[in-house]
Amino acid sequence: MPTLEPKIEQYLSDLLPEREPVVQEMEEYAEANQFPIVGPLVGRLCYQMVKSINANTIFEMGSGFGYSTYWLAKGLPDDGKIIFTEYSPNNIKLAKDFLGRARTLDKVEIIHGDAIDSLEKRNGEFDLILNDIDKEYYPKSLEVILPRLRKGGILITDNLIWSGRVAEAEPDAQTRSIIEYTKMLYDSPDLWTTIIPLRDGVGISYKLN
Ligand SMILES: C[S@@+](CC[C@H](N)C(=O)[O-])C[C@H]1O[C@@H](n2cnc3c(N)ncnc32)[C@H](O)[C@@H]1O
Repeated sequence: MPTLEPKIEQYLSDLLPEREPVVQEMEEYAEANQFPIVGPLVGRLCYQMVKSINANTIFEMGSGFGYSTYWLAKGLPDDGKIIFTEYSPNNIKLAKDFLGRARTLDKVEIIHGDAIDSLEKRNGEFDLILNDIDKEYYPKSLEVILPRLRKGGILITDNLIWSGRVAEAEPDAQTRSIIEYTKMLYDSPDLWTTIIPLRDGVGISYKLN
């Protein structure tokens, strides 16, 4: 079930300016391979979030072949850095090629491995974190994310509506993880969260303390 009525989604998509050829290529690759990217509507929101808090450091959890990385990196200043995490070597290979051609690779540090472990091992705080890992690990990830997000920083989480499954009477295990994580976001005294029902539901959490 799409989150928005298809004709509304189409209307919003028709408003978007044309993307550069390499980004169109990434979208075509995702379509052809049924790879779940955030898509241009949420990609633009990611860019906007980076710009709106003048983010300089970003940690991305579950980077795929670099589509969301592209939008986040594009919003960064020239000296900004984004940490890309992914456990598929093939996705990393594709990302290096796409991001190189999109002239954003110089801002990207690539980590091959588990996103939660990598974030836990990292020192310091980030201005923005994007969470798009396997959904069963969402609740566990939040304990690691919170101390690594600076006050005034933004956590973006994808798939919080999960094709409407979060509202089903008997949700499966993955869906229950998303529901648990979403409650954690809303209950946290350190976060102020809103879910934007764009594409598959994107959470924007502002770090208050
Ligand atoms: C939904 S896709 C991400 C798409 C990407 N954010 C985008 O919109 O372009 C999730 C990706 O995260 C990777 N992944 C999932 N859980 C992970 C984890 N715990 N650590 C590292 N990579 C992970 C998967 O291999 C997959 O490529």
